Amino acid sequence: MVLPIFESLPATLTWEDDSLRIIDQTRLPRETVIEALTTAFEVWRAIHELRIRGAPAIGVAAAYGLCVSMQASRDLPLDGFRAALIEQAAYLDSARPTAVNLNWSLKRMLRAADRSGASDSASLYRALVEEAMQIHREDQLLCEQIGLHGMPLITAGCGVLTHCNAGALATTGLGTATAPIYMAHQEGIAFRVYADETRPLLQGARLTAYELRQANVDVTLITDGTAASLMARRKVDVVIVGADRVAANGDFANKIGTLSLAIASRHFGVPFYVACPSSTLDLQTPDGSTIVIEERHGDEVTHLGGQQIAPAGIKVLNPAFDVTPHDLVTGYITERGIIAKPFEANLAALFQAEAPAASTAS
Ligand code: MRU
Repeated sequence: MVLPIFESLPATLTWEDDSLRIIDQTRLPRETVIEALTTAFEVWRAIHELRIRGAPAIGVAAAYGLCVSMQASRDLPLDGFRAALIEQAAYLDSARPTAVNLNWSLKRMLRAADRSGASDSASLYRALVEEAMQIHREDQLLCEQIGLHGMPLITAGCGVLTHCNAGALATTGLGTATAPIYMAHQEGIAFRVYADETRPLLQGARLTAYELRQANVDVTLITDGTAASLMARRKVDVVIVGADRVAANGDFANKIGTLSLAIASRHFGVPFYVACPSSTLDLQTPDGSTIVIEERHGDEVTHLGGQQIAPAGIKVLNPAFDVTPHDLVTGYITERGIIAKPFEANLAALFQAEAPAASTAS
């Protein structure tokens, strides 16, 4: 399936005939390779290795991944199926630590299993598939709603800067940060986008630049270090980024380099927005200080395209995300509208009632 706005970009993932297929995002844009994931380990590894990535897409993949993981258990007695379900959910939850959507979606799947009145394992499996499909449909809808609320921020002639890939490839719809961009573009508004390349894994260059071009959006690729100087030259009117986890006070984790962008935006007076669905809110985490930041292998920094670019044996720090304090955020673009300061009160007012109850996914 190709989303109508793109020339030939396949859907981030599909579920057909009880089979989960993803685009291997590590190979884009050079090759479009669709991969079927048939075991819990394959799903875990695809998430861990960023073949499927971006907080909302990870959440949807994990929901279907749990279904894939349970296919072999459909003949077990119900008690055995339920025990295996809890185990598999905890296993998938360990694939990556920072994006809360992974844990959110697995908890939601476990709650659906608890609620289901299924009297045998095969029926419980079907109930899980239904819930995963519902999470998938909602994700597409949430992107659209984020797009509608964020679109007024993009006006004729303006410059929009984004970081990493919070786009269609990071979700199963129009993206989060990119949804207002796609919608404004479809409205015929002429504006330009600057995409940070996003070292070290280049999600901005490989994925954001690629998908925006596929939709014929005017996009210019820049190195991460160029962003502040573009702001100094008044080329950037608004920054829109995604998020992997938003704490109750409005601090948020996103791809490494987001914090520097937020600081530069504050310095140059550029509005700085975070686009995310409510599945990225973690109201159980009071502030950003306790968000677990994924540390990735040093090879991602010392090597580029398989070539060594740093001295052998050099010490490397490679955190995949950073935490931006809420004070630097102008607003959160969510499916319910743009949330302004004070974030703690306003996020709670809109979403507290729906905070997920504690569950067994670790
Ligand atoms: O390591 P990644 O590629 O999964 O990081 C992705 C990001 O940081 C995105 O900005 C975030 O997940 C939001 S995606 C809508």
